Order: sequence, then C-alpha cells, then structure tokens
Amino acid sequence: MSKLNIGIILGSTREGRVSPQVGEWVKKHADARGDANYEIIDIADFKLPLLGEADASEQAAAWNNKLNGLDGFVFIVQEYNHSITGALKNALDYAREAWNNKAAGIVSYGSVGGARAAEHLRGILGELMVADVRVHVALSLFTDFENYSVFKPADLHLTNLNDMLSQVLAWSGALKTLR
Ligand SMILES: Cc1cc2nc3c(=O)[nH]c(=O)nc-3n(C[C@H](O)[C@H](O)[C@H](O)COP(=O)(O)O)c2cc1C
Repeated sequence: MSKLNIGIILGSTREGRVSPQVGEWVKKHADARGDANYEIIDIADFKLPLLGEADASEQAAAWNNKLNGLDGFVFIVQEYNHSITGALKNALDYAREAWNNKAAGIVSYGSVGGARAAEHLRGILGELMVADVRVHVALSLFTDFENYSVFKPADLHLTNLNDMLSQVLAWSGALKTLR
C-alpha cells in the first residue's frame, strides 16, 4: 500500500510568527518515523482573501487541490483571543468536500497550551467531517519558547507527538477506505 499523505498546516500568517518553527519540529520527528509522506502547508502561500470579499477562484482552486491530495492533517494552532486565528478559520471555510472523511491531530501553543483554541478547532472540524484524534500536543509559550519567540520544546512533548501521529495515521488509513 502506498504511504499516506499528511499535511502539517501552519495556522498563523502574521509577520514574525513562530508557527514555522513548530511545524519544522513536527516534520522532523514525523519524517524520522518513515511511515507517511509529511508536508508543511503554509496557508500564507495561498493568498486567500477573506471569503466572499474578492474573486478568488484561482486561489480557492489551488487550496482545494492541495487539500484533495492529502489523507490527513496536523494543525499547528496558535491561540488568538481564546480561539484559532482568523487566517485558519478563513482557510477552513474555503473548502468543504476536500476536508471530509479525513483525520487530524492538533499541536497548539499559547499561555495555557493553546487549549482554548484547540477546543474551538475541534468544534469546527466536526462540521467539516474531519475526525480529530484524542492525543494533543499542548505547548506552553512560557516554558517551550525562549522569550516567546525561539522554540525549545521540552522532551516530554515527543511522546505525545508520536502518539498523536500514530492515531492520525490509523484513522487516516481507515477513512481512506470510506472515501
Ligand atoms: C491577536 C492576538 C491575540 C492573542 N490572544 C491570545 C490568547 O487569547 N491566549 C493566549 O494564550 N495567547 C494569545 N496570544 C499570544 C499568541 O498565542 C502568541 O503570540 C503566539 O506566538 C502566536 O502564534 P504565531 O507566533 O504563530 O502567530 C495572542 C496573540 C495575538 C497576536
């Protein structure tokens, strides 16, 4: 059987964001497993305007094409005002069938591990028919980042990361049969 394709989606787009560092950490450890094709997906690259504000058929097609090629997701989620970023919500809204019947795991960060944003995302994923797995990597802005900007994760997060990836792969494979 061919390997599953898992997208590591960076949820923030702001200048100076830390999400690329977190995404690279996930990709490094995921690649070391050798069990799937892991790819970092940067929402910023797709230049999606706010949904409905401009004709964005080309950008929307490119975004949906990218999602169509994926079997599962790892969302890199940062907490903005107790929720996910507007950029991630907008990107979620830009697709429907391309999300359906796939699995996802969450890696979040914030003052309380990004927990409130992660829980908001789970509610949205239910509507999009994305099966979010139980194990969740919750990183602290205070202890897993130096000066809130240089990512230095505690070793203990690796166990959760690997358990989360195992669950995402199991469910992504199972849901592929449904699609
Ligand atoms: C608009 C805004 C709102 C934020 N609100 C929260 C919040 O409610 N809770 C929290 O823990 N951190 C909050 N933060 C801090 C962010 O989690 C932190 O800056 C993080 O690095 C943002 O991710 P990014 O660097 O990938 O953009 C907020 C940051 C911004 C820019």
